[in-house]
Amino acid sequence: MKTAVYPGTFDPITRGHIDMVTRAAPLCDTLIVGVARSTPKNVWFSIEERIELVEDAFRDLPNVRVQAFEGLLVDFAKKIGAGFLIRGVRAFSDFEYEMQMALINRKLAPEIETLFLMPAEEYSYVSSSRVREIAALDGDIRRYVTPKTHEALLAKIQARQDTRDTPRRSAAGG
Ligand code: COA
Repeated sequence: MKTAVYPGTFDPITRGHIDMVTRAAPLCDTLIVGVARSTPKNVWFSIEERIELVEDAFRDLPNVRVQAFEGLLVDFAKKIGAGFLIRGVRAFSDFEYEMQMALINRKLAPEIETLFLMPAEEYSYVSSSRVREIAALDGDIRRYVTPKTHEALLAKIQARQDTRDTPRRSAAGG
């Protein structure tokens, strides 16, 4: 049984990620999409929200499962019996970071291989933070995300707006 992990923060999942998983799924028996629970990134979506959107995106791919993880990626891979990590290289600029990560992961766990796939070129410039930025500025992001993620992003932007608009009470209550 060949099990692979496709890890990421998925804040939120984009069609670029979906393209990667769709390419990777036929190459293995089970593909686990590993959603990083804690991350140095300032995330918009909670781990539960991110998982729900990822699960929705892959509900038609029978060998794809979604799991949260924390700690080292290679420890998660070992725990679930995965022999491969799947990563995408979208552009030359990804290469150095990806090579560093692959070599560190290999030092940490030599038995786990990293496989690189090339995503579709129409998503080569897409990232979660760009999608959030465009959505926050009222741009149309429907070509980059699923309808459910689109809806979730609009709701999140509204909620963030509402929080900002709510006047803070002073300690004196005024
Ligand atoms: N399509 C669209 N966007 C893509 C993409 C693709 N094919 N591939 C990557 N991206 C985006 C990501 O959404 C992310 O966007 P953002 O920065 O705007 O959020 C950006 O490109 C960078 O991606 P990536 O480097 O994969 O970051 P990530 O946050 O998605 O995932 C982890 C990083 C979780 C895999 C990594 O931090 C990790 O392994 N953490 C565990 C701790 C550990 O083991 N550390 C040692 C590893 S060296």
